[in-house]
Parts: sequence; structure tokens; C-alpha cells
Amino acid sequence: MQARARARANIALVKYWGKSDAALNIPAVGSISITLDGLWSDTEIEFDSKLTHDSLLLDGKEDATQLRRVTTCLDLLRREADVEMPARVVSHNNFPTGAGLASSASGFAALVGAATAALGLERSPTELSILARRGSGSAARSVFGGFVEMHVGEASDGNDSYATPLLAADDWPLHVVIAVTETGAKATSSTKGMQSSEATSPFYRAWVESSPADLDAARSAIVSHDFDKLGEVAEHSCMKLHALAMTSRPPILYWNPATLACIDAVRALRRSGVPVFFTIDAGPQLKAVCLPEATDRVAAELHDVSGVVDVLVTGLGPGLEMG
Ligand code: DP6
Repeated sequence: MQARARARANIALVKYWGKSDAALNIPAVGSISITLDGLWSDTEIEFDSKLTHDSLLLDGKEDATQLRRVTTCLDLLRREADVEMPARVVSHNNFPTGAGLASSASGFAALVGAATAALGLERSPTELSILARRGSGSAARSVFGGFVEMHVGEASDGNDSYATPLLAADDWPLHVVIAVTETGAKATSSTKGMQSSEATSPFYRAWVESSPADLDAARSAIVSHDFDKLGEVAEHSCMKLHALAMTSRPPILYWNPATLACIDAVRALRRSGVPVFFTIDAGPQLKAVCLPEATDRVAAELHDVSGVVDVLVTGLGPGLEMG
């Protein structure tokens, strides 16, 4: 009753922010992401009848907040397998945890992969995506590699709210340069931030209503490999998300001065003809997406921005890997 799995982080180009059902974790909007090759979570799990409760060691440390979410997710799987045994979970991220670098996406996808294997549950990628969604909405996308679309679905039980692959990583091998501007955990989690935006931002309705058009635009840009069009819609979706955060009550500002300086740097690069666009999640890190020939230039420019403490470079990668 032991297994391991690796799942990679993903970043959304069309963002998920808001839920239509918090208990089932059904997103209010669809999203489109890319799975990142170089950022992953490795998770090992063992179900053991001698244990009295679940335990979680995340990067060598016990984490009570994450343990609650892990237990909720494992309870679902235990019910499906008709097992009551607690589990010992050991997970390792090869990148800063909880700083807006999608650790919950890779973490919950890896957890669901390892746990279903340990419990002997045979689940299709679609079923794994639904289970990963229950852990964290963005995790549903990390089940797949390359370009991935998450669907809101229509069913009230969430059984048609899952991700599907759009395009393989090798079919359009974009690069991502991550400018790390802070390594500490973020102040407001995505879960809390989106709850607040749903309840208090006057722009929330417009966000939900304008989402299908963004998804259509991004999907067709991806299928036709239209980099400029993808960049335009991705930056628009990112700015709308942060406008929601900023107009929540109390306001949430995920950026720091270095984040803004990085936005400037990306825009200046683009003005000089470099194929690059940015996106930013619920944290202060900027992710620059570029064509491979521009990677070195983008990395060098972002490295020189004041306040940037590290620069990570990655290509696109595969989905959930078991064993
Ligand atoms: C800004 O998937 O972390 O990264 O479902 O509550 O766990 P929960 O939220 P989470 O939210 C991700 C928000 C985002 C945008 C995105 O990845 O689409």
C-alpha cells in the first residue's frame, strides 16, 4: 500500500479565479495552462493500519494547514477504495513552496497519482483530473503535459469539471523564464483570495462573463501557434485577475516593486522585437513566456532587474508520472 508519483507545476495563461461550488471545488471559469518541465513535486505515500492519523512531511517539515487539505483529499480516495487506514505522505518540491509558483497544482496532482496507485484504484487520466481538482483547482491541469484546458462542466456533482490536453509540449516548445522576487510563502492564498474577490469585487461578474471569449482566443492561438495573439490574451487575463484581487475588500496586492519592474522589462523587450509575454499568479513572481530563441536574452534582462533574487528557466513538460 505504498506508491510514489511525480507531477509538474503548471501556469495558467487564461486564469482560474473563483468557484461555482466551494465544497466540490468546481471552478467558476475555465482556464488554459502550460505544464512546466523543470518544476515538480515528488510524493510518496504509504497507507498503514498502525498509524492513528495522516501525516505530511512537506520539504522535510510538518505542515498542519496543508495536512488538512491532504486529509480531505485522501478521505475521498479512502471512501472509493473502502479503506480506513491513515497514510504517511512525504512530498518534496524542487522549487520554493507556496510562493505563487503553483506548488499546490503539482502537489495535489502527485498526491492523487500516488494515493490511487497505493490503494490499487485504477483511474483514467480524466478521473485523476477530477480527483486532483478536489484537492486544488489548478492541480486538475497538472495531470496532463503541454498545453491543457480546464473545463467548468455543467454537472452539479462536478463530474464533467476536469482538464483535457490541447497540444503536446513538443508541438510548440515554448520556454518560461521565472523571475523570483521573493521566496517566502505568500500572504493571501489563492483559495482565500478568490473567495474574497467573489464576495467583494465589483468586477467579479464581468470576469466570469468575459472568460469564454478569452478561452476561445487562447485556444485558437495555441492551435495556430500564434504567439502574439496568445501573449495578448494571456496578459489580459492576468491583468483582469489582479484587478479583481486589487478591487477586493480588503484589497489584495500580490505584486511587489520588483514584479512591476519585471513587467516593464518584458514590455521593453517586446518593443525591441523580442517574442515574450508575462503572466503572474497569486504571488509576486513574474513568469515570462517566450520563444526558445529569446530565452537567454529574457533571462539576462530579468536577472538584472532590481529585486529579482533568482531566475529559473524551463521548457514545457509531461503530465503525471507514476512509480
Ligand atoms: C492564480 O488552484 O491554488 O494560480 O482550487 O482553491 O486550490 P484552489 O486554488 P488554486 O488557484 C490557482 C489560481 C491561480 C490561477 C490559475 O492557476 O489558474
